[in-house]
Amino acid sequence: MGAARDVETENERPRREEILRLFHDAQNAEPLHNYVTSDKLAEIARKLDIPLAEAEGVVSFYRHFSRRPRGRYVIRLCDSLSCRILGSLDVYRYIRRRLGIGRGQTTADGMFTLEVVNCLGSCDTAPNFMVNDTLYTNLDETKTEEVLAALEHEAVKEVER
Ligand code: FES
Repeated sequence: MGAARDVETENERPRREEILRLFHDAQNAEPLHNYVTSDKLAEIARKLDIPLAEAEGVVSFYRHFSRRPRGRYVIRLCDSLSCRILGSLDVYRYIRRRLGIGRGQTTADGMFTLEVVNCLGSCDTAPNFMVNDTLYTNLDETKTEEVLAALEHEAVKEVER
């Protein structure tokens, strides 16, 4: 009976290769703050039967994940070569003026966090940023404003629901 139970537990346990998906799910489970909580980190380490320090090492290696609370919308602005050449600094300056936040900062209302990241893998559509899991391309001030306004509108709608 004990052996049968062990086999069942083994089969239910997620595989080591699923660690990134587990972190992704954990982060998405905190949509207002977009981060992996200590409780979730410990839960994932336990499920995978790996040391907590190893789980912490993996989650901190990937910039997509955060261990500290961030905004509802995390803007990840690419500043690698193609995006820089085609105007990422202008987009950065516009966001800074519009939202009053710089690199690594979160708006006072907890709505937006701005991060500056390396290549997002879409250099032919530069400049680009991602907001949470969505890629926005060919950005200029007008398009950036459209994206920010749409996100603010979406947030208001969610509150009204
Ligand atoms: S340089 Fe920005 S997406 Fe590649």
